[in-house]
Amino acid sequence: MFVAVDQIEKVFELTGGGKYIALKGIDLQIKKGEFISLIGHSGCGKSTLLNMIAGLDLPTEGIVTLEGQRITKPGPDRMVVFQNYSLLPWRTVRENIALAVDSVMKGSPAAERNAIVEKHINMVGLRPHADKQPGMLSGGQKQRVAIARALAIRPKLLLLDEPFGALDALTRGNLQEQLMQICEENEVTAV
Ligand SMILES: Nc1ncnc2c1ncn2[C@@H]1O[C@H](COP(=O)(O)OP(=O)(O)OP(=O)(O)O)[C@@H](O)[C@H]1O
Ligand SMILES: [Mg+2]
Repeated sequence: MFVAVDQIEKVFELTGGGKYIALKGIDLQIKKGEFISLIGHSGCGKSTLLNMIAGLDLPTEGIVTLEGQRITKPGPDRMVVFQNYSLLPWRTVRENIALAVDSVMKGSPAAERNAIVEKHINMVGLRPHADKQPGMLSGGQKQRVAIARALAIRPKLLLLDEPFGALDALTRGNLQEQLMQICEENEVTAV
């Protein structure tokens, strides 16, 4: 199995001394190339589960594996896209993507790294906005930069936590469609 979540339990220690069981007995198997959506009410544990697949947090019981390897910490094979963009405001769209590519592909020639950056700018339809800084972009455009940046470093797994939650329903619907298409065309596994 590409990703396996096996009998996960997550217990949070509360400041008052109590415990809160956020997840219990969770199993999830993800095949390569699958596009998985976690659906549930607010507080049911979607972000908690995603964080454990990302390696940002550890389960109290059970294990999460990627290609058979236990996930214990974050890594460039799993890119996370959050709701709040997390772009560098003083860098352009192109520079934000290039920074990630340069840091992960240090050994590759500059021409190759540049080609990857440009390819991903096109992939999310931001060619006309490539030289803008995040402050000059709409919410949907900012989130497309975050997705392009995540995909540009060719992760095995793309993890998105309500990436379009801050957008209006129409934009959200459009971007969800586009994201699914991009993932399908590029054989990206996404949660
Ligand atoms: N650090 C923590 N300490 C204690 N409880 C926590 C902590 N983090 C999350 N929880 C609790 O665990 C439960 C699951 O939270 P989580 O953020 O995973 O929910 P969610 O499904 O992502 O909700 P939403 O749709 O609102 O984002 C919630 O009841 C939350 O209060
Ligand atoms: Mg959440």
